[in-house]
Amino acid sequence: MSDATHDPRPGPWPSPSLEAYLERRSRVAASLRERDAALVLYGGELRTRANDTEFRFRPDSDFHYLCGLEEPGAVVVLLPEGDGGHRFVAFVRPRDREIEVWSGRRLGPEGVVERFGADEAHPLAELDAQLPRLLDGYDTVFLPLGRWPALDAAVHRALTSLRRHNRTGESPPRHLGNAEDLLGEERIVKDAASLASLRQAVDITAEGHLAAMRAARPGMHEYQIEALIEYEFRRRGSSGPGYGSIVGSGDNATILHYVDNRSPLGDGEVLLIDAGAEWDYHSGDITRSWPVNGRFTPEQRDAYEVVLAANLAGIELAKPGSNIDAIHERCLDVLCEGMASLKLIPESAETIRERKLYRKFYMHRTSHWLGVDVHDAGRYTLGGEPRAFAPGHVLTVEPGLYIAADTEDVPEGFCGLGIRVEDDILITADGHEVLSAKVPKRVDAMEAIIGEAHR
Ligand code: GLY
Ligand code: MN
Ligand code: MN
Repeated sequence: MSDATHDPRPGPWPSPSLEAYLERRSRVAASLRERDAALVLYGGELRTRANDTEFRFRPDSDFHYLCGLEEPGAVVVLLPEGDGGHRFVAFVRPRDREIEVWSGRRLGPEGVVERFGADEAHPLAELDAQLPRLLDGYDTVFLPLGRWPALDAAVHRALTSLRRHNRTGESPPRHLGNAEDLLGEERIVKDAASLASLRQAVDITAEGHLAAMRAARPGMHEYQIEALIEYEFRRRGSSGPGYGSIVGSGDNATILHYVDNRSPLGDGEVLLIDAGAEWDYHSGDITRSWPVNGRFTPEQRDAYEVVLAANLAGIELAKPGSNIDAIHERCLDVLCEGMASLKLIPESAETIRERKLYRKFYMHRTSHWLGVDVHDAGRYTLGGEPRAFAPGHVLTVEPGLYIAADTEDVPEGFCGLGIRVEDDILITADGHEVLSAKVPKRVDAMEAIIGEAHR
């Protein structure tokens, strides 16, 4: 891809498109109408990194999903109306030439109406004056309870104000609902815009992994690989990683959330990379594990084949009607058989399974929803049962084996070895699509790419 083809982020317009957000708001408004409810969301705040410097702003996921705004401090209100329509009201920081010189351009209320489709917009300072009027008459107010204390407090002030004027005719909402659940159930089935963003995120993620496979050499450092992957993400217009990139070689790969990425890549070690690019605040989430020098040792290869077999067996169950627990159980079957046959645990596969001995080398679950958040919103169970997959769900399948360097009683060649194979899977009407298929995972294919690069 030539640099000239990069799609620049569109700046102060909603991305991917205003239409995508209008459609989402109509859908969410319909669900609010059924509950005689209003919805209030908060965009979040700048977070201090140290002293007077801040992290780059990332909007609250539900908030961005609903409106696409990227400004800190904003509050939006979605109000279903009797005629089947709805009103979308925003409170944002006002324009201020002097402050904008320091901290960036603002849309101001006018910009939010013009570009983001708000029916009305006000300066943030008017929130307390306007919110009671907006919420008046609804039975329930949905908000992300407990997530943003400032928003909780603003809604409570509005309700108190309404109750105080109760005798003059206002009818204050009687219930609070958790927006997390309401929006989670919207986000779990990817709409067309969400799926397009996710495809782009996963595609860029794949390019990052491929770049790492081609570039890694013994003696380089994990941070150099991290920089290279994240360069690839940014080069292609992603806002960066959707979570801390895990780049762990040898024993470091056995630490599940290893993000120090400080060690050299040893000749003969397996490198585990778990990294995902964001696009429109949707995250990819891919893990690959491969030999730094381009050739697995026999033990590494045997362990790798077990994890790959688990990954493939798990993915086979990704179809409508199946569920995350079924995938986990299937992966456990394969991993336990592998632990027995490789003599990692001197017991039968059945005993390893029944007595949960596998936890020594496989201590996490196999799947999670993927979307705006890397561990995305949406319920995992419905009515006490594992939730059945439906078209539009996206999940990961990510079995692994983690054998720390100081593990006793396992053949030496397995020690200091961490392997995970993680793919991003879209459930379709008749099965699934592996969104992350672009990154090879078969031993021969990976060794060929690395070998080619080393020539
Ligand atoms: N990268 C986080 C996860 O795999 O769940
Ligand atoms: Mn994952
Ligand atoms: Mn991951």
